[in-house]
Amino acid sequence: MNLAIDASSGEPLLESLRAGRVGLVALCGGTGKCGKCRVQVVSGQVSELTSVEEDGLSPEELDEGFRLACQCRALGDLTIDIPASSLEMTQRLQLEGEGGSVALEPSVTAVPVQMSAPHSEDLIADADRLENALRAAGCSPASTPRGLLTELSSDLRELGWEGRAVLQDGRIVTFLPVDASMAGLAVDLGTTKMAGYLIDLDSGKSLAKTGMMNPQVEYGDDVLSRIAFANEDSAGRRHLQRTVVDGISELVEALCRDAGIERDQIVDAVVVGNTAMHHLFAGIAVRQLGLVPYVPAVGASLAFASDEIGLSLAPGAQIYMPPNIAGFVGADHVAMLLATQAHKAEGTTMALDIGTNTEITLAVDGRLLACSCASGPAFEGAHIRDGMRAAPGAVERVSIWDGEVHLETIEGQPPVGICGSGILDAVAGMFRHGIIDRSGRFREDKLESEVTDPFFPLVESSVAGRGRPLGLTLQDVREIQLAKGAIRAGIEILLREANITFGELDEVIVAGAFGTYLGIDSAVSIGMFPPLASDKFRQVGNAAGMGAVRLLLSESERAEAERIRKSIEYVELTVHPLFTKVFAHALRFGEYLGP
Ligand code: FES
Repeated sequence: MNLAIDASSGEPLLESLRAGRVGLVALCGGTGKCGKCRVQVVSGQVSELTSVEEDGLSPEELDEGFRLACQCRALGDLTIDIPASSLEMTQRLQLEGEGGSVALEPSVTAVPVQMSAPHSEDLIADADRLENALRAAGCSPASTPRGLLTELSSDLRELGWEGRAVLQDGRIVTFLPVDASMAGLAVDLGTTKMAGYLIDLDSGKSLAKTGMMNPQVEYGDDVLSRIAFANEDSAGRRHLQRTVVDGISELVEALCRDAGIERDQIVDAVVVGNTAMHHLFAGIAVRQLGLVPYVPAVGASLAFASDEIGLSLAPGAQIYMPPNIAGFVGADHVAMLLATQAHKAEGTTMALDIGTNTEITLAVDGRLLACSCASGPAFEGAHIRDGMRAAPGAVERVSIWDGEVHLETIEGQPPVGICGSGILDAVAGMFRHGIIDRSGRFREDKLESEVTDPFFPLVESSVAGRGRPLGLTLQDVREIQLAKGAIRAGIEILLREANITFGELDEVIVAGAFGTYLGIDSAVSIGMFPPLASDKFRQVGNAAGMGAVRLLLSESERAEAERIRKSIEYVELTVHPLFTKVFAHALRFGEYLGP
């Protein structure tokens, strides 16, 4: 496809392309660190190569005119090619997950009311008339929100003085037509993706679900980049909040369209996310999350009016956010525990949600121990030379047999990069076949030719369309080592704190999008997970999203979330006396032989 856009002279191409509505992958937020925003200059004048580009692009790519769009500036009319791997593509979204069933016990109630119309001898104000009708129905309404008052008079008249008043904690949330369903919204607000669920709160049935990218990704792929952006100036945090609220508003629009309802039928909402996403959505300061000792601004659950942050739902609708456990163990982990019931498991259970940060909870003998591991973004394709998110064309499965590499890509598209599950499989295959050793070094006798930069090819250059093959470099292997080492160290420290061994684990629950698609065998063979039988692992999909739905359906679940927060023992790994030693051992591929 050819597209002409206006670019301001001297402005980074990334900015001009964004303004022209061409989304490029910018995992590092445009700081030049991720190397994902490659474009190929075909003709025209551009700024000098920067040292960041010289480091981030291979000599072949530099020869072929590749540049980083966040560093390169147009100096006149320009023609560029954008490789598919640089284009922001819709990532595979994980909406489904295990959530079990929960008794319908929402925090809102719909009360049918019928009123007589005012007349010359009955001059009671409309809001008083509604409150009186509710009292006659046995309720004691305490307040009517101003947002409802603005349209209440015309609504009552239009509906013939009959409808359903929705109440929450004595407040009138809204007044609905007799036959309109009362809907609830649950959102799993991830750092890169958002999943939304619309639920009929009269029946507990799902009305619609959908997902989309978190629009904040433009400002960096991981929470630390977002925190840095929020701290840049006083407008940064407000801007990030506006961006995510607008994104959720778009999600609501799509859900309502699919379900055939109006957004003012949404009378209650639950939003879960990691602590940084939680704070940014609620408009709370995040500076302290980036500073030792990384404490959240708030641990307890929050409930506030949706219109306080500009999210348009029913006039008096509230947003509930479950509690955070620590700076890097957030409300989404609490939701995951609720969905999987890991915290109530009879045996010894470990539950992990793998992402840029991996949160782990160990449930043993009535104790709950939790930690957060800095596993980094490698499994999301960042910091991996040919890594990409799980989008069409990403290599998602790799196996090596009879000396040949076999690949599967998402949606069977021609390969344009490698996503987390493919990277994990590839490294596991390289280790099993002795291409790398326990320390992650390439075994030169296993490589076809002598090379100064060890590289394991997965896709030959004629197929990859990049002027070079796709594969894994020594540096990529190092990144995976750091990620898997962090996760295994977290697992080992929790087991030590509980004074048990991995053999005593009855179940390991693996949640999240990457957790759903990763090959358990690969994770075990590189030593990321302990060597348990494969039937001890349970991959549960988007359990955080399912937990959000449970919190929407049941007030008891909200009370349970508070109990989890109060009972969980958080273990801070960075100050744990054994962490450094355990981590050093966990870095080695294969069996973990701890200190
Ligand atoms: S290197 Fe350009 S956005 Fe990361």
